[in-house]
Amino acid sequence: MCGIVGYIGEQQAYPILIKGLHRLEYRGYDSAGVSMIGSNGNLTVYKAKGKVNALEAICADKDVSGTIGIAHTRWATHGEPNEVNAHPHYSQSKNLALVHNGIIENYKTLRAEMENNNYTFCSDTDTEVLVQLVEYMQELHHCDLFTAVQNALKHVVGAYAIAILDRSNPDQLICARKGSPLIIGVGKDSNGRAEFYLGSDATPIIEYTDQVIYLKDEEVASMDRSGRLNITNLANVAQTPQMQTLEMNLEALEKGGYPHFMLKEIWEQPQALRTSIRGRLQVQDRDVLLSGIIDNRDKFVNARRIIICACGTSWHAALIGKYFIEEACHIPVEVEYASEFRYRNPVIYPDDVVIAVSQSGETADTLAAIQLAKQHGAFLYGVCNVIGSSIARATDSGTYIHVGPEIGVASTKAFTGQVVTLMLLGLAIAKEKKTLADDMFHMLVNELCLIPEKMQWTLENNKDIDSFAQMFTYCRNFIYLGRGYNYPVALEGALKLKEISYIHAEGYPAAEMKHGPIALVDEEMPVVVIAPKRGMYEKVVSNIQEIKSRKGKIISVVTEGDKVVRGMSDYSFVIPDTRDCFVPMLAVIPLQLLSYYVAVAKGRNVDQPRNLAKSVTVE
Ligand code: F6R
Repeated sequence: MCGIVGYIGEQQAYPILIKGLHRLEYRGYDSAGVSMIGSNGNLTVYKAKGKVNALEAICADKDVSGTIGIAHTRWATHGEPNEVNAHPHYSQSKNLALVHNGIIENYKTLRAEMENNNYTFCSDTDTEVLVQLVEYMQELHHCDLFTAVQNALKHVVGAYAIAILDRSNPDQLICARKGSPLIIGVGKDSNGRAEFYLGSDATPIIEYTDQVIYLKDEEVASMDRSGRLNITNLANVAQTPQMQTLEMNLEALEKGGYPHFMLKEIWEQPQALRTSIRGRLQVQDRDVLLSGIIDNRDKFVNARRIIICACGTSWHAALIGKYFIEEACHIPVEVEYASEFRYRNPVIYPDDVVIAVSQSGETADTLAAIQLAKQHGAFLYGVCNVIGSSIARATDSGTYIHVGPEIGVASTKAFTGQVVTLMLLGLAIAKEKKTLADDMFHMLVNELCLIPEKMQWTLENNKDIDSFAQMFTYCRNFIYLGRGYNYPVALEGALKLKEISYIHAEGYPAAEMKHGPIALVDEEMPVVVIAPKRGMYEKVVSNIQEIKSRKGKIISVVTEGDKVVRGMSDYSFVIPDTRDCFVPMLAVIPLQLLSYYVAVAKGRNVDQPRNLAKSVTVE
C-alpha cells in the first residue's frame, strides 16, 4: 500500500529512485512522483497519474539531477488518484517535500487548524497536512527539521511512514514511521563513500546493500552524506539501531522469462514448497522439527484454543489450517477476519494461542488483531513470508513460510506456502500432544514430502488451460464449489478469478448450493467443482448432478484416473491422488492457472489489477 524510496549519497538519485519505484509498484499504482535537490539548490517535484512509466515520460526532458531524493508510488486513500494528489507534496513555502504511506486519521482537524494559520492546501490528501504541519512547527519553534518532524508527529493520530527533503539542508534525509513499514539500507558506493537507501520493503535496496535497519514505531531517523545516522523516538531519546543482513536475491525480483510475475510464481510453487519444508520435514526419520513449536511446547500443548487471524487469501489458508489442526491435534481452532476481530470485543484468554497468517507481515488489520490479543495476554505466533516484517516482529514466536518474494498482487505461492506451514505446525503440535497414532503421523509425513513433486505433475499436466480459458472470457459470473478441505479452495479460486479478471465469482460449500445459490444456475453459469476421489466424493457427485439438471456448465478438478466426474463435466483438470488434507495444495493450481489465463485473454493487467495493492497497510 503505497511505496516509498529514498536515497542520499554521492550517486545520482533519480535512476535509483525510479528503479526502486518499479520494484515497489506492486504496492500501489494510482500515481507516482519523485523529488530531488539539485546541485543548484532547487527542490524539484515531478508527478504523474498512473504508473511509474508515466512519471518517467514526464521526467524525460526535465532536470532530474541531484544526489538526494525521495519517491513514491501511490495507492489512493484520501483524494482521487490524480496528479495533484500524487506524492511528493510540497509545503506552503515549497522548501519541504514529503512522501507518506499510511493514513493520518485526524487530518481534517489538523488541516482546519492550519487553515486558520493561513496555510492553503492544493490537494485533498492527508499527506499534505503532514508536510504543512512540519513547516508550521519549524516556524513556530524556530527549530531544525529533525525537531520539527518529531514535534509534528506528536500531533498526529494514525499510521505513517514518511521521508522528507528540505531545500535548505541538501545534505540530510529524514524519515519516520509508525504502523507503516520503512527500512533503511546502509551502503557504500563503488568509491567507498557512505550512502543510505530507504524503502517500504527491501526490494528497492537489495541491489545496493544487504545491510538494513528496520525502523521501529515512533522512531525518527536522519541520515547524512558523511555516513552519520541518528535515530531517536518522538521524545528525542536516542535509539540504538540494530543492523540486520537481508536474505534475498535479486533474481527473485525479476520475471525470469515469464510474461507475468503471477505465472512465474504459480510455476515456482513446487520449488517454493521444497524450501518451506526443508529441514522441517525429515522424511528419513519420519519426523517434523519446527523450532517455533519445540521452543514453545507448553503454550501449544496447553492451549485452550487457537485463534487464527488473517485477511483475504491468507484467511483461506487459515481455514484449511483450522481443519487440519482440529483433526490432528484436537484443539479447537477459530479463524477470524482480522478486520472484524479487532473491533468486536472478542473473548480472548491468556491460554489462547493467536496465530497471525500474513504473506506481507504488514497487513494493518492483522497487526491490530494481534496487538489486541497481546493486551489479553494470549501467546502470539506469526506465519509470515516477509522476513523482519512488522507482524513477524510483533509476535512472540513464529515460522516463516520461506517461499521467496511474491510480487504478483494476486497471491499464489504464498497461499500454498501458508497451507504447508500450517500443516507442519499441526503435525508438530500433534507430535507433542501425541494426538496422532504413530503410523498415521509417519504416513502424513511421507505423503507431505511428495507434495512438491505432485504439484509439478499438476502444472505439467494442465497445460491446455491456456486455450480452454479463452472460452470463458464472455462470462459475467462463476460459482466455485468444494466440500471439507476443498471449501476454502473454492473460496480461493473465486477470489483469484474476481481480483484479476474482474469477473464476479462466489465460492460455496457444495452442499450449501441448494439453500439459495442454486437459483443462479442456468446454461450460462460455469460452476467449478473441486471433486477429488477422496472424502465426500459421492456427496459431491450428487451436488454435480443437481447443477447439471439445471443446465449449469461443470468445470471439475478431478483425481487422475477418475471417470465418473469427468464424464459428467464439460471440462476437467486433473490432479494426482493424495490425502484429503493435502488436496488443497494441488487443487488450487488449476484454479490459479484458470484465473490467470482468463484474465490474460481479457487483456487485464494481471500483476497489477485495478484498485488493489499487495501490502494492505491501511485498514
Ligand atoms: C489476494 C491477496 C489478498 C491478501 C490479503 C492479506 O490474492 O493477496 O487477499 O491475501 O490482502 O495479505 P497478507 O497475507 O499480506 O496479510
